[in-house]
Amino acid sequence: MPDLRFVIPRQDINREDFASSAPDFNRRSEMMNTDRGFKCRITNIVRLTEHEKLFQLRIVDPLERTIFRFKPGQFLMLELPGYGDVPISISSSCTNHEFLELCIRKAGHVTSALFTVEEGASVAIRGPFGSSFPMDEMAGHNVFLIAGGLGIAPLRAPLFWINEHRDRFLDINLLYGAKEPSQLLFTWQFEEWEMINHIRLHTIVEHGDAAWRDKRGKTGMITNLFDDISVDVKNSYAIVCGPPIMFKFVCGYLDKLGIPMNRMFVSLERRMHCGMGKCCRCMVGSTFTCIDGPVFDYWSVMNLKEAI
Ligand SMILES: Cc1cc2nc3c(=O)[nH]c(=O)nc-3n(C[C@H](O)[C@H](O)[C@H](O)COP(=O)(O)OP(=O)(O)OC[C@H]3O[C@@H](n4cnc5c(N)ncnc54)[C@H](O)[C@@H]3O)c2cc1C
Ligand code: FES
Repeated sequence: MPDLRFVIPRQDINREDFASSAPDFNRRSEMMNTDRGFKCRITNIVRLTEHEKLFQLRIVDPLERTIFRFKPGQFLMLELPGYGDVPISISSSCTNHEFLELCIRKAGHVTSALFTVEEGASVAIRGPFGSSFPMDEMAGHNVFLIAGGLGIAPLRAPLFWINEHRDRFLDINLLYGAKEPSQLLFTWQFEEWEMINHIRLHTIVEHGDAAWRDKRGKTGMITNLFDDISVDVKNSYAIVCGPPIMFKFVCGYLDKLGIPMNRMFVSLERRMHCGMGKCCRCMVGSTFTCIDGPVFDYWSVMNLKEAI
């Protein structure tokens, strides 16, 4: 498996803090003016599973490369010329200004076309868009990073952030579930996360195969993983990424454990077109998922009718 870790010097993020998770209506006018396109070259493609690939992108213009800044949880609009554009979470470290990584599942028209392109292809990105996870607010606490399936893609940027500021956090537990062992993504990084970054990694699948059983891998629902974890609820935050159905039962479970709803953060996915509050395609009630979200605290999501 290719080594996708990069040794890039850290730089401070000098972009204004858009980190608020709850809809902040004063923020909208600013977010509606973040449209900016960047030409990119695809520099590496890694096939992760039959349906998911990791695309490494490099902004072509060196000056633009230094301008592009994002925060964990933000997304961009990726355009494949001739096919259209799709919202995709940025799945790399926000201190890596040389390359961007996008973990993409083949879903339909644009993403299927993306699966046919090769290294060296030209694409364009717009963004970054949306709210982000409040990493500074979480510092000094335990954090539960909980991902189901492709949910590991948006979770990777906060995970990199934590790894790069590890001394600012207490216990970090990464709970990761998939349908089958072969669908677990980024397995080649597990050892690094555990050994170097002292992340406690807990994995579970719905249906284990013989190899999984031999390794004594766990089988069941992601919440089963909490059986082995002691939770200091007063001192914990959680980020939950995955299919919407997962938010209900994982956040419901965390709520029962006693973690306040405004300390649980989720990333909502809606169909999007402009990504900047202009087309109204992503609206839930009067909330724009693209600029008020996609990151919301669970309390706000509970108060958004039909959000999940
Ligand atoms: C903020 C945000 C971040 C995202 N991050 C990622 C990511 O990191 N990796 C990734 O693979 N995908 C991500 N998605 C989903 C991705 O945008 C869709 O899979 C993509 O737009 C599908 O486009 P398409 O033209 O290939 O498929 P289409 O032909 O447009 O549709 C194919 C199928 O996908 C469904 N679909 C389309 N758009 C969405 C959507 N936004 N959410 C859920 N289902 C959709 C359609 O209902 C249809 O069933 C994200 C979506 C959002 C809103
Ligand atoms: S995607 Fe156009 S308003 Fe949100």
